[in-house]
Amino acid sequence: MPMPAPPSSNRGLATDESIDRGYDHDECRPDKSPAEEDGQVIAMLHSFAMPPRDEAANGNGETLDPVLQPYAELEDPGSLYVSAVAVYPEHRGRGLGRELMAQAQARAKALDLPRISLICFEDNETAMQLYRRLGYVEVDRRPVVPHPSLQYSEGDAVLLVRGLD
Ligand SMILES: CC(C)(COP(=O)(O)OP(=O)(O)OC[C@H]1O[C@@H](n2cnc3c(N)ncnc32)[C@H](O)[C@@H]1OP(=O)(O)O)[C@@H](O)C(=O)NCCC(=O)NCCS
Repeated sequence: MPMPAPPSSNRGLATDESIDRGYDHDECRPDKSPAEEDGQVIAMLHSFAMPPRDEAANGNGETLDPVLQPYAELEDPGSLYVSAVAVYPEHRGRGLGRELMAQAQARAKALDLPRISLICFEDNETAMQLYRRLGYVEVDRRPVVPHPSLQYSEGDAVLLVRGLD
C-alpha cells in the first residue's frame, strides 16, 4: 500500500489505542470498509475520526521519527481521516475507488464531521486524479523523507481535504 501507515504522532492521534483513548464513541472508532466479490476482498478503505485540536494536544511527548514527521504535520484534526484506500490491480478502473470514497463521505456525514482528509503522494498521479475529480483540494504539503517501506521517495506528501455537501 503506497500510503504510509498513519504516524503515531506526539499528539497521540493515529494508533487504534490512542483513538480509543481520545474517543469513547464506538461509531468514531477506525472503520475498515472492504469490497468483496465472490467471497474475495477486492478493495478496502480505512478511515477514522481524527480528534479535534484540543484533544489532539495531549501528546505523550515522544520525539517522532523524521520519516513520519511530515504526516504528523499534515494531520487535519476534526476530520474523518482516510488512512488507506486500495483496489487490487485487476479490479481497478471499475469505479470501486470512487464508490469507497462515497462510502467514506457517508460515514463522515453520519458522524457529523465537517470534512474528509487524506494524504496522497503527489507522484501517485492516478490517486491524485481520483481525489481531484471528487472535489478534494490541496491544503498543505511536505517533502517526502525517503524510507525503504515507502513506495514514493521523491516529491511531496499532500494533504487533501473535502468539505461535505
Ligand atoms: C487509486 C485507486 C484506489 C483508484 O481505484 P479505482 O477503483 O481504480 O478507481 P475508479 O475506477 O473508481 O476511478 C475513479 C477515478 O480514478 C481515476 N483513475 C482510475 N484509474 C485511473 C488510471 N489508470 N489512470 C488515471 N486515472 C485513473 C480517474 O480519475 C477516475 O475517474 P473517472 O471514473 O471519472 O475516469 C487504485 O488505483 C489503487 O488501489 N491504487 C493503488 C493504491 C493507492 O495508490 N491508493 C491511494 C493512496 S493515496
